[in-house]
Amino acid sequence: MTDVLFVCLGNICRSPLMEGITRSRWQAQASASSVSFDSAGIGGWHAGAPPDARAVATAHRHGIDISGQRARKLAISDFQRFDLILCADRGNLEVLQQQRPKNSRAACALFLDWSGARQDGEIPDPYTGDERAFEAVYTLIDLAATGMVQRLHRL
Ligand code: 4NP
Repeated sequence: MTDVLFVCLGNICRSPLMEGITRSRWQAQASASSVSFDSAGIGGWHAGAPPDARAVATAHRHGIDISGQRARKLAISDFQRFDLILCADRGNLEVLQQQRPKNSRAACALFLDWSGARQDGEIPDPYTGDERAFEAVYTLIDLAATGMVQRLHRL
């Protein structure tokens, strides 16, 4: 069992899409190994809330339902609960590296980087953007999700 946590700033735009798209790609192919996916935010401003309506609509256009997800704040215990914490941008990664207790279980990395999609790449925050910004985020995450599924198979 591999436990994966996706992290962004608010847990209402990017990380719900990272969770939903990657789970969907993983479930679309048969695998003997099992992987769990969850997401959280660096901040807790939206804790308990569903994903942003624009993120829900973007996923829906691509046949993925993320409307049942609920935001939560990253907890220190997450560094022990998860094998892998993958984040959207370098600001997120800096916070993860600061908060990560020594000897904790989780490895922390940029999602685009770990998946092999883009070395050192970031998924830009679409929160103040328009529908095109969300679509661009979807395209990047879809690329990373495909790379991640391939890499998970090799673990
Ligand atoms: P996310 O986008 O990190 O992709 O979920 C954001 C959502 C909300 C806020 C910032 C980023 N906020 O400041 O409330």
